[in-house]
Amino acid sequence: MKHIYYQEGQLYCEQVRLHDLAEEYDTPLYVYSKTQILENFNAINGAFGEMDHVTCYALKANSNPAVLKMLAEAGAGADVVSGGELFLALRAGFPQQKITFAGVGKREDEIEYALKENIFSISVESIQELQLVSLVANRLNTTAQVSIRINPDIDAESHPYITTGLKQNKFGIESEKIQETFKIAKSLPSIEIHGIHTHIGSQITKVEPFAAAAKLVVDWVAKLRADGIGITHIDFGGGIGVPYANTIKHEALPVDELPENQIPPAEQFIAGVLPTLQQAGCSVWVEPGRSIVADAGVLLTKVLYTKETSARKFVVVDAGMTELLRPSLYGAYHQIVPLSIDTFVQEKVDVVGPICESGDFLARDRLMPKTKQQDLLAVMTVGAYGFVSASNYNGRLRPAEILVNGDRVRVIRPRQTFDHLLQ
Ligand SMILES: Cc1ncc(COP(=O)(O)O)c(C=O)c1O
Repeated sequence: MKHIYYQEGQLYCEQVRLHDLAEEYDTPLYVYSKTQILENFNAINGAFGEMDHVTCYALKANSNPAVLKMLAEAGAGADVVSGGELFLALRAGFPQQKITFAGVGKREDEIEYALKENIFSISVESIQELQLVSLVANRLNTTAQVSIRINPDIDAESHPYITTGLKQNKFGIESEKIQETFKIAKSLPSIEIHGIHTHIGSQITKVEPFAAAAKLVVDWVAKLRADGIGITHIDFGGGIGVPYANTIKHEALPVDELPENQIPPAEQFIAGVLPTLQQAGCSVWVEPGRSIVADAGVLLTKVLYTKETSARKFVVVDAGMTELLRPSLYGAYHQIVPLSIDTFVQEKVDVVGPICESGDFLARDRLMPKTKQQDLLAVMTVGAYGFVSASNYNGRLRPAEILVNGDRVRVIRPRQTFDHLLQ
């Protein structure tokens, strides 16, 4: 998080003081650092060296069109999971042959859209889906390039809601059925089976589960080749974790270390699996989302009221679960810091939003610098799975998004107005 930092007690994004942005554009407000996003992408993409690879950005993490355009221009491919994301990826300029389409529940019209756009690969997750892809491709008189997503039954040791590679998860084909599924795929008309796909979960904090998945995938490539199925492409998914606590430091801030924060840099995750993946002699695709955008984003919010009950102290702010769902959805931790540091006094509070749900909170039982009405705060590390989860629940308006590049500021999505609530 090099590009979001304190200088003389003021929080900056690149060369722009965030206090000024909050005053000019109002809160709640998402702000992203362009330089941070590009540095994150280049670190991951560069870790492959000369190897035949594509780094597909997972649009689900942050699909703002300006963010997509800059990543497409930087040479990224795109990992999409719906017709809507495919539309956004094409509009942003990602080349068709650098787009993969994953997801356990693709509709027929979405499959048709992907085939008509001639994208690189559709990642299939069930035999019924294979049959539908074959049918649609046949009807369109084309050949569908298909990968099959396997479920490696490896524990990513992440939150249960974002673990995807266990037997009890809905994703992929379990090991007992992998061989049969590939054989069926090979026998179906209008299907060219070229790849194997896996994605074991998100916010993974250790290299070991990745390494185990890489070994398993490479073993499967060998087995499938022995069966006459020519795999040329491994899609290794995303999932690289990022630190969330203690990401920004100042002597006025409490040190709040989470054990999971000992996360190696993204390049080390890639370096940890490359030697294994290389053995398969395939082109390797990855689909990182969080590790490209998470630490490039902050959510600015204003303290509306402070309120004390006999049980707790509350800081009521103007952002909540309708702007950032992660804390309410799975108790996710985000550091919350003042935009201007004006006190060394700390207190333990719940930071809550204005939504009519007791589950609407941004932090619970959190030690932080004492705040007062009208203070401005930043919720850190929200560039991924932040704005994309915003909603109009409680008649709330989706916030604006801003991109900072050096000293330049661009509104990349205006704040909604009441008229949006009628659509
Ligand atoms: C298939 C697939 N690929 C890529 C990703 C991106 O994961 P992350 O943002 O953790 O890198 C996800 C997220 O869940 C996913 O389901």
